[in-house]
Amino acid sequence: MRQAGRSLPEYRAIRTNDSILEAVKDPELAAEVTLQPVRRYGVDAAILFSDIVVPVSAIGVDIEIVAGRGPVVAEPFRYASDLARLRPLEPEVDTPYVIETVKLLKKELSVPLIGFAGAPFTVASYLIEGGPSRNFTHTKALMHTDETTWFALMDQLSQIALSSLQSQITAGADAIQLFDSWAGALSRADYEYFVLPATRRVLEGIGESAPRIHFGVGTGELLELMAGAGTDVLGVDWRTSLTDASARVGHRYALQGNLDPAVVIAGIEPAKVETARILEEGARHGGHIFNLGHGVLPETDPGVLAELVSFVHEWEPGTTR
Ligand code: CP3
Repeated sequence: MRQAGRSLPEYRAIRTNDSILEAVKDPELAAEVTLQPVRRYGVDAAILFSDIVVPVSAIGVDIEIVAGRGPVVAEPFRYASDLARLRPLEPEVDTPYVIETVKLLKKELSVPLIGFAGAPFTVASYLIEGGPSRNFTHTKALMHTDETTWFALMDQLSQIALSSLQSQITAGADAIQLFDSWAGALSRADYEYFVLPATRRVLEGIGESAPRIHFGVGTGELLELMAGAGTDVLGVDWRTSLTDASARVGHRYALQGNLDPAVVIAGIEPAKVETARILEEGARHGGHIFNLGHGVLPETDPGVLAELVSFVHEWEPGTTR
């Protein structure tokens, strides 16, 4: 998950004042940052150090990641004429450093590497709002007033995500995760009509070339639709229990999640209690990947996370109340 390494002193030590978008262009550095949480915590997989806005930045969109805020676009996308600011991604030419980082990691890692991309809706929301948003008013205004432009934008962003993911798989990524972090802002009807087709093109485009994880925040009401987009694993945030998620999507999909990141800050004891509950629920479902329901919060104590990883590794079904 995003920012797994951000709370680590070794991450802060290695990162200069460069923006993260510059840091990912240095494959040695990006590979090292990817390895840090694996070494420190002994987790069972690594997630590539990159960002969901790397591909659009690489094809020339003027975008920055502002610390404590997130991606900010100098001139937000609002009109049909803005579509000309995007073009298909050519990963070997536009993001060779991502490919190189994956290759370096494959030599170093003894656990699987997860590659990733931003889903069309979530990336569009940054382009249209110009930055992080609470209500997504500009994004929803565009989808409801100019469908033609909306669907053309979704189409461009689905091609960009798919090309990026395919290049990561070709370079050696063992699985991919599609982040539709902010899809939970949508009604079921809007998600199904305006977003699902583009997301499906990405996930079905990957097909069986690598296991697929599909994740969003606050998506309890969208889970069946998100599962149907074509995935192997469904990420669930902490608002929806794995038991409820299981009832909604059935056993065809593995579930990933879903400890509340704030509970890790509450301390190791409460974190263990919640984790045990989640592991029991996951075991009842069948396929389950334990992780946090969203990214590690920056003030998280790395010691607590390390202890939690050991707890998960040692836990056996039926051992908790
Ligand atoms: O943990 C990791 O480092 C894995 C790599 C990773 C990053 N971003 C690096 C990053 C991943 C998987 C992402 C995905 C990402 N980026 C998502 C989807 C997952 C999610 O969390 O919902 C989203 C929505 C973004 C956009 C983004 N990038 C935000 C909202 C922020 C936070 C800004 C802040 O400072 O609070 C970023 C910045 C970012 N991306 C950081 C890292 C390590 C922290 C800033 C930095 O180190 O410069």
